[in-house]
Amino acid sequence: MDLMAYRNPFKPTAGASPPLLVGRDEVLEEFEESIDDGPGAPGRLSLITGPRGVGKTVVLNAVHDIVVAKGWIAIAETATTGMCDRITQAVRRHHEELRQGRSARVRGITLPVVGGGLTFESRADPPADLRESTASLLDELEPNETGLLITVDEVHRKSVGEIRHLATVVQHLVREDRNIALVMAGLPSAVSDVLSDSVLTFMRRASREELSDVSLADVRESLAETITRNGRTITSSALDAATEATGGYPFMVQLVGYHCWRKTTGSAIDDAATSSGIPAARKRLGSTVHAAALADLSAVDRTVLLAIAVDDGPARTADVARRIGESAKYVSIYRQRLIDAAVIQPAGRGFVDFTIPYLREYLREHAASAL
Ligand SMILES: Nc1ncnc2c1ncn2[C@@H]1O[C@H](COP(=O)(O)OP(=O)(O)OP(=O)(O)O)[C@@H](O)[C@H]1O
Ligand SMILES: [Mg+2]
Repeated sequence: MDLMAYRNPFKPTAGASPPLLVGRDEVLEEFEESIDDGPGAPGRLSLITGPRGVGKTVVLNAVHDIVVAKGWIAIAETATTGMCDRITQAVRRHHEELRQGRSARVRGITLPVVGGGLTFESRADPPADLRESTASLLDELEPNETGLLITVDEVHRKSVGEIRHLATVVQHLVREDRNIALVMAGLPSAVSDVLSDSVLTFMRRASREELSDVSLADVRESLAETITRNGRTITSSALDAATEATGGYPFMVQLVGYHCWRKTTGSAIDDAATSSGIPAARKRLGSTVHAAALADLSAVDRTVLLAIAVDDGPARTADVARRIGESAKYVSIYRQRLIDAAVIQPAGRGFVDFTIPYLREYLREHAASAL
């Protein structure tokens, strides 16, 4: 077999769609049904949350693909300054392309209707606002039973103003039974910050998808399938080790797959490959996910995390308080902050545990620099 046949299929990069999207069928089916069910269906307004690396962005990508396959227009944005202006411009560009496509067809020339990479002269009309331009794009789409999806990634407290504006526009269009869907994604703490905005009560009725780890059985199957589809095999014990090492954490599925693939020279991924691939994957996890997750936190948050990391399993809140020399009440504030940030989770009465695999080990190894 030539080298090309061994091209690494795994995608251990934030936002890069994996070769197989593990364990998200149900979420995506629900969304697809909402698109088919028409205006007013609950999933047309959705909020996706979950810890770092759980796959929020790739679920948005999948949602995007679902509607595009149905002939809808999809606009993908991130919640940063200028978001509403960029959406308005994208809406207008799509509208223009639809019109150009139509007039081209009338003249008997075949041109792609949407997104053919064509550029058009901007029109002399004054720029319409978001609501107006969206409504007129929908006027164009709805006779063909298609609509508009807007996805907003990386929802953040800082962008609440932009989100408020977008949500208000969408709220009006939803009330008018227009064919529009809005799906937003962010860390749980960011999403709850945004939802606490008094103007965004409408978004509180959105359907919430809290993404979490996927089952090890699904991971095992997807690793095996990805590997065999791409021309290699994996021994049963190597597959067990690789599956186990992911902890069901989606980012780790890609990292473990990627590094075990890399450490293989022949056609079979075996124990030798996993025993060097798994540590390499963990190292990358630390420098990407763990470092990023810790960077979002305050110094006290990190001190509390270090005190949690002392235990090999779930930590008792009372022990954590004792370790940092503070009261249980003081620790409970940080406990809640860290739960909201999806770094830890409750693990039975009075106990907490990490949500991201190997974060404990990472904190221990980087105790000094973590602070
Ligand atoms: N369901 C899944 N099955 C397999 N791999 C996945 C799955 N979800 C995500 N991944 C992989 O995990 C990595 C992280 O995914 P993604 O960037 O979507 O996470 P995220 O939740 O958006 O993270 P962040 O909070 O940092 O934005 C990517 O490499 C992606 O390919
Ligand atoms: Mg993301």
